[in-house]
Amino acid sequence: MKIELKNKKVFFENKGSKKEIHPFWLRERVNGDNFVDKGTQQRLFDPTELKENIEIDNLNLSKDFLEVTFKDGAYTKLAIQNILKEFSNINEVEHINKVEWNSTLKNFINFEFKDNFCEEKQMYKALVNFYQYGFVIFKKVPTKNNFIVNFANSIGSIRRTNFGEFFNVKSKPNPNDLAYTSLPLAPHTDNPYRNPVPCIQMLHCIENEVSGGFSTLVDGYTVTQKLKKDFLDYYKILTEVKVRFQFIDQSVVLEDWAEMIRLDDDGKFKQVRFSPRLDFVPLMDKEKLELFYSARKKISELYNSDKFRIEFKLSPGDLLMMDNHRLLHGRTTYDANEGNRFLQGCYIDYDSTEGKLKHLKRKYNL
Ligand code: OGA
Ligand code: ZN
Repeated sequence: MKIELKNKKVFFENKGSKKEIHPFWLRERVNGDNFVDKGTQQRLFDPTELKENIEIDNLNLSKDFLEVTFKDGAYTKLAIQNILKEFSNINEVEHINKVEWNSTLKNFINFEFKDNFCEEKQMYKALVNFYQYGFVIFKKVPTKNNFIVNFANSIGSIRRTNFGEFFNVKSKPNPNDLAYTSLPLAPHTDNPYRNPVPCIQMLHCIENEVSGGFSTLVDGYTVTQKLKKDFLDYYKILTEVKVRFQFIDQSVVLEDWAEMIRLDDDGKFKQVRFSPRLDFVPLMDKEKLELFYSARKKISELYNSDKFRIEFKLSPGDLLMMDNHRLLHGRTTYDANEGNRFLQGCYIDYDSTEGKLKHLKRKYNL
């Protein structure tokens, strides 16, 4: 990719094809102090108020910069690197390749919390790890005074739900969710009935005195790739049929219709939802339902299979951060008479984490 000049026009050359860059596109990017606010990097002018037939008066191209003077008197010096960056709409986290994993995943890296950790280089590494594997574990995160709220807010912004800003996962009488019992929880994604589904989930272990209550994780990306390879019909129907997910308690009724495997516009993996306690399949033709039920059974078998699940015990201070759009999580049963098991949980938005990653990348010049 490179920039070329000819007859007061700027061209962008890529793989043998040469195209003119619209002068207006360059004029919008004028970046001197009179045009862009230094602190916020926001425009001080409104490009919709400019005349459309902007013309270039003078151009100068050096190795790293393009200088443009426009006929309306505006002048700018643009870094070539920044211009080239704009020709790719792949964002930062899409450059981080997902690592498909299964039960053989061992010795995953943990990151030790310390003061100001969220502004450290280590945090950047932790976030990269998170985007690769769909989860990351932080150790020694303070357990007093609902510290999860501070921790979450220093990475992104907490997404409050009807369970509160954060929620306490412990066995309690008259629970409004099976999470608040000592029953095992098969691999599931949280809040499939919400729109949008909270993307990043945190579970912070405060106490764990019981011998059971192991945490489980499954990579929904690995499993859906496997389904696509071995059972294409099943894969297809699960990417097509929208299921109603529902949550009901005394104060709210939440519902959302969505595919169990959601793809993006290019047909690539975007999100899985799975919570067979909460899903209602629409009434379709009998044959289609037959195929759907077989597909759901198969994906459930895979999600619940020993081949894909990792199991580990969270100790007090451990904080598991996971991608609720990619991973399924659960726990093994425990005996509440053995002692306390107490986790605190919350959700944060995906885009704020992405923003944090980009910020740290910029800060440390990575
Ligand atoms: C939850 C949940 C797992 C656990 O609260 O959503 O899945 O380990 N908890 O208790
Ligand atoms: Zn859960």
